[in-house]
Amino acid sequence: MKKLIIANWKMNPVSLKEAQKMMAGLKAGLKNSKVEVVVCPPFVYLTSFKFQVLSFKLGAQNCFWENRGAFTGEVSVKMLKDTGVKYVILGHSERRIIMGETAGQVNKKIKAVLQSGLVPVVCFGESLEEKQQGKSFVSIEKELKEMLEKISKENVAKIIFAYEPDWAIGTGNNCSSDDALTMALFVKKIMGEVYGKKVKESVRVLYGGSIGADNALSYLENEAISGLLVGGASLNIKKFLDIVENI
Ligand code: 13P
Repeated sequence: MKKLIIANWKMNPVSLKEAQKMMAGLKAGLKNSKVEVVVCPPFVYLTSFKFQVLSFKLGAQNCFWENRGAFTGEVSVKMLKDTGVKYVILGHSERRIIMGETAGQVNKKIKAVLQSGLVPVVCFGESLEEKQQGKSFVSIEKELKEMLEKISKENVAKIIFAYEPDWAIGTGNNCSSDDALTMALFVKKIMGEVYGKKVKESVRVLYGGSIGADNALSYLENEAISGLLVGGASLNIKKFLDIVENI
């Protein structure tokens, strides 16, 4: 299976003009057909790329679990689907830490995304405190089980997981590829225990946190890591192309 590289632009850039320039740069520069690329711009820019022929897919960075109604400020999966989005990032640590999003809320979002036929990219990871206290595995197992509550194994198999430890995001302090691999294997082990061998083997786990062209390849050597979720480096199109084109 092709490695999956997802660009999470977060709340950037600040104008549509800039977003269009970045997309044009990607359209012109992405040549590597051995890699699957997904770009997740802010909601407001999505419709302007709806009818463009792109060699990559579009994703969103969040969604709400209801399709419509009195939910001021929210964007539904149905709306996202209409913009041509195929993937939805859920439970990003910035949403959990800054916006107070809970595992229960992420669970509802995962269900809504799965029901719509889009692919959820579910983030998980430990805090620095949990890591220092040796609690990474315990806290991640708990977090995953809460987020996946009452989701069938057929549906869990469709989820893409992204290991993004809080302490590695935007810090330049990337998790070592060995530790990321250990975590990917741990997630697969849990999936095997709870959902069976087939899910264990098929489930995809990405790594994200201070990825750049200098370290990207080291994570992709082992087949247990299916790809990368790239933040800061995806805003510089040249840097992002360096990552993708070197795979
Ligand atoms: P950075 O690549 O900037 O560390 O961000 C990672 C991330 O949060 C991707 O979702």
